[in-house]
Amino acid sequence: MSCDLMNNFTRLGKIGEGTYGVVYKAKQKDKDRVVALKKIRLDTEAEGVPSTAIREISLLRELDHPNIVQLLDVIHSQNKLHLVFEYLDKDLKQFMDNYGKVLPMNLVKSYTSQLLKGIEFCHSHRVLHRDLKPQNLLLDVNGSIKLADFGLARTFTIPIRMYTHEVITLWYRAPEILLGTKMYSTAVDIWSIGCIVAEMIMHKAIFPGDSEIDQLYKIFRVMGTPDQSMWFGIDKLPDYNGAFPQWKTQNLLQHILKIRENSINKKLKDDSSQVKQTLLKELKEKAFTEQLIQLCDLLKYMLKYDPKERDSARKLLKNCFFDNMKYINPDKNFLIALGHNPDKRNDDTGYETRSVEKSSENKDEKENQLGPAGDN
Ligand SMILES: Nc1ncnc2c1ncn2[C@@H]1O[C@H](COP(=O)(O)OP(=O)(O)O)[C@@H](O)[C@H]1O
Ligand SMILES: [Mg+2]
Repeated sequence: MSCDLMNNFTRLGKIGEGTYGVVYKAKQKDKDRVVALKKIRLDTEAEGVPSTAIREISLLRELDHPNIVQLLDVIHSQNKLHLVFEYLDKDLKQFMDNYGKVLPMNLVKSYTSQLLKGIEFCHSHRVLHRDLKPQNLLLDVNGSIKLADFGLARTFTIPIRMYTHEVITLWYRAPEILLGTKMYSTAVDIWSIGCIVAEMIMHKAIFPGDSEIDQLYKIFRVMGTPDQSMWFGIDKLPDYNGAFPQWKTQNLLQHILKIRENSINKKLKDDSSQVKQTLLKELKEKAFTEQLIQLCDLLKYMLKYDPKERDSARKLLKNCFFDNMKYINPDKNFLIALGHNPDKRNDDTGYETRSVEKSSENKDEKENQLGPAGDN
């Protein structure tokens, strides 16, 4: 292929830079569509594209699912490799920062269900993601969330041995990896999703460690220092230490409630509007508490110490927490946080579910968009 192929793209700006290279927002001229263009940095010495990259790409191409970012094209010209992805508005990290307050329960529920559907699909295709974190989850205005950045993903055959240790960003890293296991399983992704879900509901990372040992201790302080009764065989893991400080298991519900309340108070310190009061009041409402109890039960299955006991995505999706999924409309703050400019309706509770589209003719249709992505 020639580099003429790249003339087909107009760069509209840099949207990310990370492990593998730069990501641009770009216009694909012939197809008249906006895409995300990921330039893969290749070793200068290496001749052509490494076979591992090729393998990973073909793997991504097979993963066709509404909750997995779509790879539209692969452009391999000279020594450069460009991956063309569908463009999404923001990643979850950017969104949570922009949104600036705790997310509504309905949204958390919808995102949780979609994340599990996406990862269930990966796992059923024998793909581990291994680097799930808010920066690698992409959102659109229709309420979809999609898994992205499969740079570290690998196909696996059970059991999975000897992957390099440095794979998952610390905060979302499963305890078995922190304790030096050589056997990675699908459970590492479930742990990460558990951490992400907790962060969405608390507006703060649940285990924000700054070193491997601090990461373990952050986990232990909340989930209790694990022992044989919680995790059979833990003493066999390479980095297990019988002299770890002992912490008791906290009540997860109380912990989450407390941090959510702190986040509401802290983040909305100068807020004189109703938002803060509404959010604080909600914490005491029965309907909310019931949902939170269910969410915490689900989290306990995702954050089980023993990877063998951690539930699979398929099983988690059957949890009653997902029984009554409500479809909600994107509100003004949601759209703004995604970088859109809604009309001037004055809705800042973050909870009203009304259409902010200029035309309200297709309201029914809109109402079905934000929320669970149907029966994926
Ligand atoms: N398809 C996309 N649409 C919109 N933004 C994207 C897209 N892909 C990536 N990004 C942005 O670029 C960042 C880096 O991309 P990513 O694929 O995670 O690569 P890296 O390996 O550099 O982490 C993401 O965190 C996200 O903010
Ligand atoms: Mg990334």
